[in-house]
Amino acid sequence: MKKFAVIGNPIKHSLSPIIHQNFAKQFKIKLEYQKILATDDNFKKIVTDFFKNGGVGLNITVPFKFIAFNLCDILSDRANMAGSVNTLYLDKNNKICGDNTDGAGLVNDLEQNLNYKIKNKKILIYGAGGATAGIIYPILQNLPKNIDITNRTIKKAYDMAERFNKFGNIQAISIDKLNNNCYDLIINATSTGLSGETLPLTSGIIHNTTLCYDLAYSKKPTNFMLWADKNGANKTTDGKGMLKEQAAISFYIWHHKKPI
Ligand code: ATR
Repeated sequence: MKKFAVIGNPIKHSLSPIIHQNFAKQFKIKLEYQKILATDDNFKKIVTDFFKNGGVGLNITVPFKFIAFNLCDILSDRANMAGSVNTLYLDKNNKICGDNTDGAGLVNDLEQNLNYKIKNKKILIYGAGGATAGIIYPILQNLPKNIDITNRTIKKAYDMAERFNKFGNIQAISIDKLNNNCYDLIINATSTGLSGETLPLTSGIIHNTTLCYDLAYSKKPTNFMLWADKNGANKTTDGKGMLKEQAAISFYIWHHKKPI
């Protein structure tokens, strides 16, 4: 049986094994998909042993996406853009290849599942960490009108805008300048979706057609989603759709089959 796994810390609550087993059923593929808890010290050995022992594909989750990036022999363009990887596999010369399917997963969830077209939209991304770096390039490839990026630590937003501004219309904006700038799509890419902390946001950025998307997900709506609902957003969603879509792209990379 072909072997797959997801590596992270924590890892207990990962939905990746269930998602991949469901995809596999669609094609009557039998596979093993484990969850592996790693530490900074043993991550590299776990990856190399996994492939040495015949493993076919790995998903990488928090906090190892950057270490995994540095461990790859070959990187896809979108992994290079993101500076992190969530999908590993070996090529025919046993080189470790890395891809990042997170941003493409978000775009597929928006465009296909939610029928929300990015083209010409005014977008605000809140957060300037690893999650943000993974989504900007794939969003810009779909030609939004512009992306504004804001962050608690504003310097990181400026650095991020500078890193990507050769690929499209993106600029940093400080939180206190947001005021009544209305956006079509607001993405919460901070880690507050999981921590339960609230963001200092003004209701002026929402109008009645705004989609508010939290990259995080949990059983209950996140604080950002509750705030957006209360302030008149047209629709709010968490990151479960993105999770499924990034997994579908990883599945395609490994099996050359597109699950639904
Ligand atoms: P990830 O990989 O999830 O993006 P990260 O790289 O550590 O994690 O980035 C976390 C992001 O959430 C950052 O933008 C961080 O803001 P700072 O750069 O100012 O630290 C943001 N964040 C975390 N907690 C926050 C809070 N309480 N309020 C606002 N932003 C927060």
